[in-house]
Amino acid sequence: MTSAGLPLFQTPGIHDTFSHEHRIVLHCGDCQTFLRTIPSASIMLVMSSPPYNIGKEYECRLGIKSYLRRQEPVVEELVRVVSPRGSIYWEVGNFVQDAEVFPLDVFYYDLFKEKGLKLRNRIIWQFGHGLHASKRFSGRYETILWSTESEEYKFRIDPVRVPAKYPGKRHFKGPDRSKPSGNPLGKNPSDIWQFVAEEWQREVWDIPNVKANHPEKTIHPCQFPVELVERCVLALTDENDWILDPYCGVGSALIAGLKPIGGLQAATKRRSTQI
Ligand SMILES: C[S@@+](CC[C@H](N)C(=O)[O-])C[C@H]1O[C@@H](n2cnc3c(N)ncnc32)[C@H](O)[C@@H]1O
Repeated sequence: MTSAGLPLFQTPGIHDTFSHEHRIVLHCGDCQTFLRTIPSASIMLVMSSPPYNIGKEYECRLGIKSYLRRQEPVVEELVRVVSPRGSIYWEVGNFVQDAEVFPLDVFYYDLFKEKGLKLRNRIIWQFGHGLHASKRFSGRYETILWSTESEEYKFRIDPVRVPAKYPGKRHFKGPDRSKPSGNPLGKNPSDIWQFVAEEWQREVWDIPNVKANHPEKTIHPCQFPVELVERCVLALTDENDWILDPYCGVGSALIAGLKPIGGLQAATKRRSTQI
């Protein structure tokens, strides 16, 4: 507060209902009901991680077919609300029943394809920590299906480039001999993603998924790291585009949509809708 008793910074209002006039929407309730209130083609990025049907406190375990039948109307609504230039990022792990593994991305791929979406990347998010399996190899990755409706989707690589392994590398023959061979802004992060803690944290945390010691850990049993969403926000949206997470949990996607990026408040102008 200032000495005049006024807040130093304006905080944007958080609304419960969707309107293009709003900047942040946080709706507590069932996503399917809420999705019906969003006008068609208004969302630039859907970024979400649905319940995996693994018996967490917020879901009841179903057979794989019943689980998918329940998810289908949600997917249908997401396809309706996403802009023709927009993207759906769907992050999933495996569902395990009677020791049999059901890779959820394989099932969701069919669901998205049936609804007319085209897969652009199947991203492997690899991490070093998790439950130890005793009768099979321990699982250390999840997948993100990135799909779009049209060929005219937004995608910018420069804001999400990562440092090249050999940044000073040059061509050693041909017409470009001795000129830099890589992009000075860094390299494409590829479709295998691994987020490591800051250099200074490396000794203490090398825990890219949000487990016990992670600085972002809350009471939620399966958050994804804000950084995972941030990369999607930077590559696939512009300021003032809507970002939607139908299964927002503790709001990691909302935070990524609002976070100051590169020293600028650019992301605060992007809009996020959450339920
Ligand atoms: C896998 S978690 C997603 C966590 C989230 N990505 C985060 O970082 O916090 C799935 C979330 O969906 C919520 N959920 C389950 N069924 C829902 C429904 N029908 N409508 C809205 N949210 C639901 C659960 O409460 C849980 O928080």
